[in-house]
Amino acid sequence: MELATEHDMTSHLDDEAIRYHHMEHYVQSWSVQNSTPPVITGGEGSWFWDNAGKRYLDFQSQLVNLNLGYQHSAIVEAIKQQADKLCYIGPAMANEARSELAALMKEITPGDLTRTFFTTGGAAANENAIRLARHYTGRHKIIARYRSYHGATAAALGLTGDPRTWLNGTVNQGVVRMLDPYTYRTPTGHKNPQDCPVCQGAPHLEEILMYENPNTVAAVILETVVGTNGIIVPPDGYLQSIREVCNKYGILLICDEVMAGFGRTGKMFACEHWEVVPDILTSAKGINSGYVPLGAMTVSQPISDWLKTNLFPGGLTYAGHPLACASGVASINAYKNENIVERAAKTGELAMSLLNQLADKHPSIGEVRGRGLFIGVELVKNRETREPLVPFNAKGEAAKAMTEVTKFAMQEGLYLSTFSNVIRVTPPLNISHEDLKHGFEIMDRALEIADRYTS
Ligand SMILES: Cc1ncc(COP(=O)(O)O)c(C=O)c1O
Repeated sequence: MELATEHDMTSHLDDEAIRYHHMEHYVQSWSVQNSTPPVITGGEGSWFWDNAGKRYLDFQSQLVNLNLGYQHSAIVEAIKQQADKLCYIGPAMANEARSELAALMKEITPGDLTRTFFTTGGAAANENAIRLARHYTGRHKIIARYRSYHGATAAALGLTGDPRTWLNGTVNQGVVRMLDPYTYRTPTGHKNPQDCPVCQGAPHLEEILMYENPNTVAAVILETVVGTNGIIVPPDGYLQSIREVCNKYGILLICDEVMAGFGRTGKMFACEHWEVVPDILTSAKGINSGYVPLGAMTVSQPISDWLKTNLFPGGLTYAGHPLACASGVASINAYKNENIVERAAKTGELAMSLLNQLADKHPSIGEVRGRGLFIGVELVKNRETREPLVPFNAKGEAAKAMTEVTKFAMQEGLYLSTFSNVIRVTPPLNISHEDLKHGFEIMDRALEIADRYTS
């Protein structure tokens, strides 16, 4: 592709220049710097469009953060109003937007979760959660799972179990791995997940603690419902049994709800499906629909009380940034006023039934699973053997069957995301039923490509 190398920087960049500077002067996350991006010029509701006017239906809510879709007017207005009033004030000063959001977090989080440290995103929320857990318990080890993503800062990437942690060197010191309650492919090979000690939770965790010494373990951190690594929903009873083991040994339970939280699963927080309250809950993304960087670490009453006489070992210049907090307040009010959580649960039921119809038709669909609008469609070569359509962490030629599916969808105007052999269906929570059906109509045709790889 021909690229211009010089541009008049006093005028607006034309499309060619936008693409050029992106490719030559910008570092794109988790990528070799050789892709040619579309130039996106706008968005509204569940749709965004490019410079040529082509429209895309967003079935992944960008990075599963645009829970309220593009350009929600109340959030945009709240950011504008806060910008007019006060763009920044340091974390030690009381400020209306910050205090209101802290109070709202107390109101909407379950149980005795009561005090929130605001961050700039999910990784920083998890970093602070484990630092606080270590400080509070006086213990060092953290138990985290393999099929997990907890963020890309050093300690958060150390907690992360997915292959992105392979590049992470030694910063996962003190992290002990636990297997995942992946009922479609039980880690122990049991056909029935009820027989699998990992899917039950407690037996597997107890065994790890026996080897590690529970008195050295500060916390167990888990994504309440696994997101990036393939939307894995734990079986009923799992989270309760992990909670009980933690209680038994004085280990803190940290639920990472950065992706699963804020209505995504059809409850405000995913742990509410199993009536489990963690000691620390981390969130980000849907907290303000991603409009301004924001994350949160919310702690239980005992930890909150402890912090009245013990130093909180963390801080950020942008902790509780007024613009971010104002957008968070507007976003939570929109969740309430527009019944977003109930809508997500209802639309999720429709999505599951439409996907089950697709599963009847397409032999490449091995399993459809999820809660609310947090849905994974696992593709296989063969339903009997459950051989994945592409291997775990496949790249390049090995991943061809999946990349052909997403490429076709994109050409047809549907933005879809995948992890290994799983398509993630995570549209905005306020997507219309008409748009949802339109997306599945494109997926139906895209899955014909996957079917060709089945045997
Ligand atoms: C479960 C989970 N935790 C943490 C993170 C990291 O969040 P951020 O990218 O805002 O740092 C992510 C991001 O995708 C996530 O899905």
